[in-house]
Parts: sequence; structure tokens; C-alpha cells
Amino acid sequence: MSQPQTPAQTHADPPNPSQVREAVRERYARAAGRVREAADVTNDRRLPDPATAFPLVDLTPATDDASAAACCGPDCCAPENTDADQLGAVAAFYHGTATDDLPTSVTDAALGCGNPTAIAELRPGETVLDLGSGGGIDCFLAAKQVGPAGHVIGVDMTDEMLALAARNQQRVGATNVEFRKGQIEQIPVDDGSVDVIISNCVINLSTDKDAVLRDAFRVLKPGGRFRVSDIVLTRELSIDEEQYLAEWAGCIAGALHRDTFAASLGAAGFQDVRLQLGDAWRDGVHSASITATKPA
Ligand SMILES: C[S@@+](CC[C@H](N)C(=O)[O-])C[C@H]1O[C@@H](n2cnc3c(N)ncnc32)[C@H](O)[C@@H]1O
Repeated sequence: MSQPQTPAQTHADPPNPSQVREAVRERYARAAGRVREAADVTNDRRLPDPATAFPLVDLTPATDDASAAACCGPDCCAPENTDADQLGAVAAFYHGTATDDLPTSVTDAALGCGNPTAIAELRPGETVLDLGSGGGIDCFLAAKQVGPAGHVIGVDMTDEMLALAARNQQRVGATNVEFRKGQIEQIPVDDGSVDVIISNCVINLSTDKDAVLRDAFRVLKPGGRFRVSDIVLTRELSIDEEQYLAEWAGCIAGALHRDTFAASLGAAGFQDVRLQLGDAWRDGVHSASITATKPA
């Protein structure tokens, strides 16, 4: 007698944008919780001396190659099943000593796919905006580079990440950083007020990338710089990947094809658009450095 056929799993109904956003928020709330738990049970081995915390240091930026290189294992972006010992793997993107004086609750919370501060050419006094700031690692690195006369704004939608970032800010002693709750599709920042936008593995998570890029353009000053690390595709994804919520929250299913990303930046008004591919996470799925400029 023939066995009843189990129907093949199909994903006929793609998740709607609010389901995707909720899956992303839940995933990064859990990630923030894991970092906080790990920081609570271990002595922080790199907590800076408050007397010398947060000096304005001259960070030698890594090369372009380094910023988009050597990616990525499954720990990047969203270490969903990572135990406490593996936290911080992403901090390997930050070559040299840039992260040496940051506490582990900052480096362990790094969930990016590159190092946008290495390609941002930040100068003292500049205002920097980090889209999807997470636990704050890129904000704290940028804050060192722009110094006391500069200002860094981190925007994130996940309360648990914002709480972690606030706690990290206290530990780091960064007085020129602020974190704001908000969506990167409607950035809670004034028009024409930002010199440089950075972002690390976040735009792929948005369900409305055109809105993100339009709003990024709005908040930049004329001549402002867009300096982002993210995941881009060089092939079409299979339907399963596209429609699978976990793959979206894990920075794969929502990633744009590189040509689409470049065209979308152009459509938003940016010029000098460049995408530099890094290593592949899997076939056709790459980390990348993405740069563009708002016309002066
Ligand atoms: C992959 S983590 C990267 C965090 C940080 N950039 C880093 O490199 O460690 C993505 C972060 O973006 C935030 N995020 C995702 N989508 C967002 C959106 N549409 N608006 C605001 N924040 C968002 C998440 O809450 C999470 O903190």
C-alpha cells in the first residue's frame, strides 16, 4: 500500500512587512539579552579605566579591503544560536587596536558584517548618524574619531538594543553619543543636519529600502557621505530564502542585489555610488562596502 504523500512545504504566502519587522525586532531583542546576560555573569575584561576612558585617539582606519573583508560565518549579523563563549566573533572585522579599549559588552554585541567606520573618513567635529546602531560599537568608534566637538546619533527600533547601548555608553563614558528610538525608514533626525551616515548590516533588514535611502538623503547635509557595510546579492535568491522569516532576520532574505542597491541610491539622489564586494557568506551572498555622496 502506498504511503500518504506529505505535501512539500511551500511558502506561498510571503510574510507581510509588519511580520518581518516583528521577527527582526524579536531576534535582536534576544541578541541584546544574550549579551547582557553574558556581561552580567562575567567580569568585563576590557572595562576601561574611568580616568582615561574615552580619549580622543587618532585611529588609523583600516583599508577599504579590510572593511568588507573576511566575512562571514553564521555568527555575523544575527548569532541566533550562539552561546556566550562565541559572542564577539564579529568584532574580528575591527582590525588593529580600534576596539581594544571597548568593554566586551560592546564588542560582544557587534552584529555587523563589516566596519563602516573604516571607510567613513571621519573628521573631528563631524556629526555622524548610525542607522540601526544595536549595542553601539560603531557609534563609540565614530565618537572617538569625531572627538568632543563632534556628535554621534545612533538610531534603533529595538528597546532591548537601546537599553544595552545606553548601558554600554555609561561604561565607555562617551559623552558625544546619543541613542534615539526610531525606524530607519523615518529617521528621527532633522533635515540636512548630518555629515556622515554609517550603518552596519541593517538596511537589508528593512522592508522599505527606498524609504530608508530617501530619508538618509534627507538628513544628510549637501556633500554629506553615505558609508555603509551591508549584505548584497549577486544572484536571485530561491523562493524559500526569500520568504523565510528567519532568513530575513538573519540578514539574507532581505538583502538587495548589488545592482538594485546601486540603482536605488541613484534614484534617491545620491552620486558617486560605489559597491565593493567582500567575501561571500554563501554563494551569491556577500558582505559589501557601499559608498555614495549627496551632491553639494
Ligand atoms: C544586525 S544588527 C546590527 C547592529 C549594529 N549595527 C552592529 O553592527 O552591531 C541590526 C540592528 O538594526 C536594528 N534594526 C533593524 N531594522 C531596523 C529598522 N527598520 N529601524 C531601526 N532599527 C532597525 C535592530 O534592532 C538591530 O539592533
